[in-house]
Amino acid sequence: MNRLLIALLPLLTTFADAADSGPKAGEPVSYWKHVRPILQAACHGCHQPAKAKGGFVMTDFAALLKGGEDDGAAVVSGNPAESSLLKNITPGSDGKAEMPKKADPLKAGEIELISRWIAEGAKNDTPANAVQRFTPERHPVYVQPPVINSLAWSPDGSLLAVAGFHEVLLYKGGGTVLAGRLIGLSERVTTVRFSPDGKLLAATGGLPGRMGEVQVWELASQKLRLSVPVTFDTVYGASWSPDSKLVAFGCASDKSLRAIDTETGTQVLFMASHDDWVLDTTFSTKGDHVMSVARDMTAKLTELATQRFVDNLTSITPGALKGGLTCIDRHPQRDEILVGGADGVPQIYRMVRLVQRRIGDNSNLIRKFPAMEGRLWSVHYSPDGKRVLAASSLDGKGAVNIYNAEFDTGLPDEIKGIFGKSSTDRNAQQNAAVEKYQTDGANLLHRIAVPTGIYTAQFSPDGKTIAAAGQDGLLRLINVEEGRIVKELLPVTLSPAGNP
Ligand code: HEC
Repeated sequence: MNRLLIALLPLLTTFADAADSGPKAGEPVSYWKHVRPILQAACHGCHQPAKAKGGFVMTDFAALLKGGEDDGAAVVSGNPAESSLLKNITPGSDGKAEMPKKADPLKAGEIELISRWIAEGAKNDTPANAVQRFTPERHPVYVQPPVINSLAWSPDGSLLAVAGFHEVLLYKGGGTVLAGRLIGLSERVTTVRFSPDGKLLAATGGLPGRMGEVQVWELASQKLRLSVPVTFDTVYGASWSPDSKLVAFGCASDKSLRAIDTETGTQVLFMASHDDWVLDTTFSTKGDHVMSVARDMTAKLTELATQRFVDNLTSITPGALKGGLTCIDRHPQRDEILVGGADGVPQIYRMVRLVQRRIGDNSNLIRKFPAMEGRLWSVHYSPDGKRVLAASSLDGKGAVNIYNAEFDTGLPDEIKGIFGKSSTDRNAQQNAAVEKYQTDGANLLHRIAVPTGIYTAQFSPDGKTIAAAGQDGLLRLINVEEGRIVKELLPVTLSPAGNP
């Protein structure tokens, strides 16, 4: 694919997403269908309750009309010329506009739509169930425990972040003491990940079917540094570059893998070779490559600097993988990835191909672990790389398995020195090694059954504890050595009355 096309792709997909980009002939402009998506993509990142630049909040309708600190009413119904919002987005003779700040002006057609909407009376047709209800001042109140899709330990183990409803909950003391509530725009939070330097927290999520978002929070102040709207559907699978500067993530709506700079919010990677939702990501040890897994059953390797898709790490032979891949983690010291998905089998692949791809081979596969029942939602290496965990769900039940991952993976002994042999011989020997490992029950150290689906599980930085959670909203702490649950906590306070 040529460079120009790569550069255009994000734009093309934006158009494809915003299918309903204008009213039909003779119909008025709709705020909900036509105006809001433009403001969401270009303005909400800097004008929302957790980050109200110029004192201007645009995610609440009344606040949108009212405007900010300096420029008076943003929207004067029926009067575009008096509306400061329109003044701010209209380019001057130099072609530049005040807003959106640090970005290109809106397109002429978009400005025209907003102007028409104001002229037609600036009506609010937001559906009642889509009104933004929660802000840093107005916390979500839980009537029932939230489904927990993601959790993470801070690098020093002092904080545990838990994805709640519309917020990220921060705990001290291994989940016992609430230390903060990070409330942003996303209703569903799909991943929470601390930066390796421990200063920032990235969260991915969105408003299903409407908006995807990457949030970057500064932990010292618990302030929202960045809210980057991406596509018009939920985004998944945040991961940090080793230098704590970039966050990669996967998109559902356009099946892309992306990364942003967390200082500026600028997109630094866009790769669209997956054929289905991209659900999880990880950086290579040097930070020069990103690996991603998707519902298309593949794990892909992408070079950051060139944004070039390099290789399929998993086999592309039909039937080699069953069902989509949902989760990925990189070995703490080596360029090897652990992946899991619908077939319940955690697998390790090497990032760099040692032998040329041949049709029908799966030569990057290093090990398979004994299978779990159901689908895998989370895989994780212990900090020393000697153990791995996988978490699953099946029909409302779940499990966390702890496996032995202590083996020589440079090149398995079994296939050393067989490069001269035919690929059939090589495959046969390698497959035998993988098979032997998988069927050796001794490699399953512990199986912890849980009476609910488990969607997320992570080793603590000292490797002694696993925090796990999922469908029933309880946080479970597992003693790794003993392989048993030692504590169960409800991470939120329930209030039967709900939000006032
Ligand atoms: C990167 C952050 C950023 C983005 C994106 C952004 N703004 Fe702003 N906006 C600001 C800042 C900062 C101010 C405060 C005034 C200033 O610094 O110019 C502001 C001020 C404003 C004001 C004046 C508020 C007042 O009364 O003082 C309006 C109106 C406004 N923005 C509209 C928009 C619109 C409309 C968009 C989207 C098309 C947008 N902004 C996108 C950062 C941003």
